[in-house]
Formats: sequence, C-alpha cells, structure tokens
Amino acid sequence: MRSLVGRAHFLSLLSSALCKSSKPSISLRTFATMADAEEFVKGNVHSNGVAVLTLDRPKALNAMNLDMDIKYKKYLDEWELDPKIKCVLVDSSSPRAFCAGMDIKGVVAEIQKDRNTPLVQKIFTAEYSLICKISDYKKPYISLMDGITMGFGIGLSGHGHYRIITERTALAMPENGIGLFPDVGFAYIAAQSPGGGSVGAYLGLTGKRISTPSDALYVGLGTHFVPSGNLGSLKEALLATSFSKNPHVDIKELLARYNSSPESEARLKLLLPQISSSFGENKSVNETIEELKRHQSSTDSTVVEWADEALQGLGKGAPFSLCLTQKYFSKVASAQGKNDNELSTLSGVMKTEYRIALRSSLRQDFAEGVRAILVDKDQNPKWKPSNLEEVHQSEVEASFQPLGPEVEDLRV
Ligand SMILES: *[C@@H]1O[C@H](CO)[C@@H](O)[C@H](O)[C@H]1NC(C)=O
Ligand SMILES: *[C@@H]1O[C@H](CO)[C@@H](O)[C@H](O)[C@H]1NC(C)=O
Repeated sequence: MRSLVGRAHFLSLLSSALCKSSKPSISLRTFATMADAEEFVKGNVHSNGVAVLTLDRPKALNAMNLDMDIKYKKYLDEWELDPKIKCVLVDSSSPRAFCAGMDIKGVVAEIQKDRNTPLVQKIFTAEYSLICKISDYKKPYISLMDGITMGFGIGLSGHGHYRIITERTALAMPENGIGLFPDVGFAYIAAQSPGGGSVGAYLGLTGKRISTPSDALYVGLGTHFVPSGNLGSLKEALLATSFSKNPHVDIKELLARYNSSPESEARLKLLLPQISSSFGENKSVNETIEELKRHQSSTDSTVVEWADEALQGLGKGAPFSLCLTQKYFSKVASAQGKNDNELSTLSGVMKTEYRIALRSSLRQDFAEGVRAILVDKDQNPKWKPSNLEEVHQSEVEASFQPLGPEVEDLRV
C-alpha cells in the first residue's frame, strides 16, 4: 500500500497549525524521499520483555498516516499474544512531540477527487480499531506523552493504562476548528472528567490547549507527572526491570518512584464552578455562550480572562461542528454507568463515532476548514451554515444514525 505521503498533496498537521506556538517546517522534498511506515513506527523488543514502540517521524511531529496506523496495530496484536512480552512502552524519537494528530490534507484531497473514496472508511477504521485495541490491551501499556500530544496523539495515549505527562506536554482537541469534531474517543475520556464531564466538554468544544502537568492530571489525561529530564532514567529503569508474575505491580512501583507533584494547582480546578455552569451536560451551545458572556462581567479577573478565551475558542469552531460536539459529548456523558446504553463503553462510543466521522468528513465544512487553516492558511473559513441559529438539529441528530445498507458499521 502506498503511503499518503507519496501523493501530490502533502500531510499537514492540524494541531500545530491551529496552535500557533509550534511551527513545523515541512518541506515537500523531505517527504517525497521518505519511505513508508516501516521507518516511522519502530518496534523494539528488549530482553527483559519490554516492547518499545517508537514514533519516528519528527519532521511531521509524528502525525499518523494510514500505513503507520496499520503498522502500529500489527505490533500491538503480535505483542499481545507473545508470552515473552511483559509490557508495551510507546515513546517518540522527538522531544517536540509525542504525536500531533493524523495526516489530513491528503485525505481531503482524495475526498475532493472522489466523494466515495474508500480511503475515508479505511482511515477511520484503522484509527478507531487501533484505539479500541489500546483501550482493551491485555498487557500494561505505557505512553510517554512528552511534547505535543493532540488529536490522534491523545487517541494513542489517553486510552492506555499509564499516561506519563511532562512539563513539555501540550494537549488539545482542536478539530472543530477545521470543521470536523473531536474524535479519537475523547468524548469517552471527557465524560469521566470532573464536573460530570463538563471539563472535557469545555476542552472538546473550545479546543483549549492544556500545557501544565497539574491540569493534565486533573482532567484525567495523565496518570503520572515525570519531569522530562527524568524520562531517560525512567526508561532505563524499565528496561532493567525483572518482571514478576504481575507486571502491573512492578510498573506501578516504578512509576511511583519517578512520579513528581506539579508545583502549581490545576487552573481548571479553580475554574470548575464556571466550567460546570457553562459546559454542563445538555447545555446547548447557545446557552454556553450566554453563560460565558455572563462570566465576562465577573469581578474575578481570572474568570473574565478564562471566559474571554473560551468564547474565542468557540468562535473558531464551525457552527455545525460545535452543535454536533455538544450533542455527542452530552450523550456520552449521560450514558456513563448505564450498562444498557451503548455509549457507556468505549467500543460503543467508537462505533457511534465512526458513523459521525464518515458523515462529517464529507461535509463541506471539513474541506473548507482544511483549506483555510492548513492549505491557504488565510484563517478565514466560510462555514456552512455560518451561524448557530441556522444549524438544523435534525441534521445533527442524523449524524448518529446507523449507516446505510451499503456501508458496514465499525466492527470492534
Ligand atoms: C441530558 O439529556 C439526556 C437525554 O435526554 C438525559 O437522559 C439526561 O438525564 C440529561 N442530563 C441532565 C444532567 O439533565
Ligand atoms: C440563541 O440565543 C439568542 C440570544 O439569546 C436567541 O435570540 C436565539 O433564538 C437562540 N437560538 C436558539 C436556537 O436557541
């Protein structure tokens, strides 16, 4: 299978383009000469049973393409069955990024050539089944989320057992800004976040970037904080561990030794009352905006600043995407703990998400968002509809419906 990278339209990095502070320098020539996933996803089994999977596509901040997804999952499948393997460690060859997301431009170019391109189903199937594999993994799965960890980067780490945050970790789900929606099972992680899922809904709707260890731990995306300067030694210690019958016990002990307490308190924790009142379950986007405007006149400058920023974040999202995200995250949050509801499990969430993704990726907003943010970079997308009032709830609801007879559901 040819890599998307080989095509005329090159990948781009949604997350880094939307989050200005990192500007990868991607040159066409570099990619044209690059080989396939073989080199971007490296697997290495050490003699003590630690299998290390290294993302090694530093110039693209480890953005994942279809070949890489397939390679990644193949390693996990093999290692899960191999009795010599005690645990899996996922890391990056670059200090800048764990993984900045998925390749997008090539996908959009294919959709524009042919709306029925099988590539869309292939990509989402590969991504989402990989996420389910990680979530159900039978062996300890550890991610070193050092540097940019956005979009699919959160998909690769956020559903695993051990999620190591450093002071360089930058987390975000900025997909509404290109007319898509926050996917990779983030709705499921969000549903378990503080405030009955409101903190996660806030992050998904606004695309807010989290860049302090205290916030990353508070939201639940991270399980441990290890300063980046200690990662090398942590990895050495893991590779020198003689595992007992229960590797989870050994890993927990090791991580407890390396775990640090963040210096500051979580900012999001201080803002929880405002986050809950603005982004609580079933709040329409309209109500959220009204509530944020109310917070803009708070006497507390921290609250005002937060509300300003949240409104700016919402302002970048496509109106349809915002309404879809709101509806979807509310559905998943209210399903928690209800065993008869498909959305109470990650696999149920991913099945639903697959339907939404196939539909939203064919909407004009996605192509337009990619054009405005990643291709022309005019940062001025013309969304359709262009405002919240014109979004039809019936179209939002239709996104969740089972796929037509000609398209198979995601099998996970
Ligand atoms: C949100 O709406 C769902 C579906 O109508 C409902 O089951 C749930 O109880 C609502 N949650 C809240 C907090 O009102
Ligand atoms: C959204 O809020 C505005 C201002 O309060 C109101 O005029 C409009 O009707 C509301 N729209 C919906 C769909 O609730």
